[in-house]
Amino acid sequence: MKKIIFSLLVALSSVSAAQAADANAGKEKAAVCSACHGPTGVSASPMFPNLAGQNDAYIIKQLKDFKSGARTDAMMAPMAANLSDADMADLAAHFSGLPSANEQAAASASTGSSAETAPSSAPVAGNVEVLSSTPAAAIYAGNVAAGKNKAVACAACHGADGNSLAPMYPSLAGQSANYLAKQLADFKSGDRKDPVMAGMVAALSKEDINDLAAFFAVQSTNTGTGESNEAGHKLYLGGDTKKGVTACIACHGVAGKGMKQAGFPSLTGQSKDYLKKQLASFRDASRSNDNNGIMRNIAIKLSDADIEAVAQYITSLK
Ligand code: HEC
Ligand code: HEC
Ligand code: HEC
Repeated sequence: MKKIIFSLLVALSSVSAAQAADANAGKEKAAVCSACHGPTGVSASPMFPNLAGQNDAYIIKQLKDFKSGARTDAMMAPMAANLSDADMADLAAHFSGLPSANEQAAASASTGSSAETAPSSAPVAGNVEVLSSTPAAAIYAGNVAAGKNKAVACAACHGADGNSLAPMYPSLAGQSANYLAKQLADFKSGDRKDPVMAGMVAALSKEDINDLAAFFAVQSTNTGTGESNEAGHKLYLGGDTKKGVTACIACHGVAGKGMKQAGFPSLTGQSKDYLKKQLASFRDASRSNDNNGIMRNIAIKLSDADIEAVAQYITSLK
């Protein structure tokens, strides 16, 4: 009998805990999640799971496991680290209440809006298409020795070994080959605009691009030359829950080395000036070659002071 009363009490208290969860509060807290899981819980890339319409209790359990380390994932660990039990309940209430990916796709099909608004809800064959067109899945089999010869043309600004000679020029040494090849292709197509680089890439073939990317990717770079600071450190590691800024660490990594497979660039070895310029350019969308607005959605929420602090902090990473 005692046992039954006890389990009734447990059941009752978990019901009231579920009722206390606030989907509206969850929606606000979910701003930091939208970079990967999409603003409507339908993920923007095949690498990230959909959360829309997922079971409430399952979401809470996964978040707890990411926080405790029982489930390990380099991107989710820093995201879950700062969540309280109440945050998790609110987030789960929000995502579980959203129409599922299929329902969202059906709704947008019936209103005639383009498939582009819900790319990951495309049928399986469509997903394969998306996957093969993402930088993460592309294969850049460049030739390092050929790249070295071709890189002579780049040395005046980026240095012979890809360690830049002036703060306005980014370092290329040690950067992910996927990312470098994507940037060169973007300068060529005009998706990323820069008058100097547009001239440099105009005559490059796909093979040239792959060779150059392969060469610079294997060079070593000087890192950790700058001073750290508290505000930048906080933003990089924890993001800003109030403003909905996803922590930089989730994609650029603990040491700022990025995630090569995903095409998330290394930020180490760059000058503060270059980092500030890129963040400001994502913020005003003058740089808009980031897939799904992944960086623009973050930068738009950063103040000048945030940019100053986080750029300074990144120069201290090694
Ligand atoms: C930087 C990208 C990124 C961000 C930001 C992010 N996630 Fe994730 N999330 C992932 C990845 C990647 C996985 C899959 C992990 C794996 O493979 O185990 C995942 C998995 C999950 C899962 C498990 C889903 C399942 O089906 O098992 C939940 C729940 C989740 N995320 C919730 C959140 C919430 C809530 C936020 C915001 C507070 C958030 N995520 C922010 C990348 C991200
Ligand atoms: C005259 C100077 C100059 C030369 C020569 C030059 N670049 Fe650049 N490069 C720049 C500038 C300036 C930028 C930054 C553009 C911006 O602010 O967005 C840049 C950016 C890049 C980027 C993007 C880096 C990042 O972190 O996003 C790559 C990749 C690149 N250059 C590769 C090359 C290659 C390969 C060559 C030789 C074929 C080359 N560059 C020659 C000036 C130069
Ligand atoms: C959800 C993943 C994600 C998060 C979180 C994220 N970034 Fe990025 N970032 C990217 C991707 C992807 C790119 C490359 C976009 C492209 O293809 O040009 C990028 C590019 C950049 C660049 C330009 C690098 C270069 O060499 O030109 C800077 C600077 C940057 N991010 C800083 C930050 C800072 C600071 C934060 C935290 C406030 C942050 N990022 C959070 C994914 C992310």
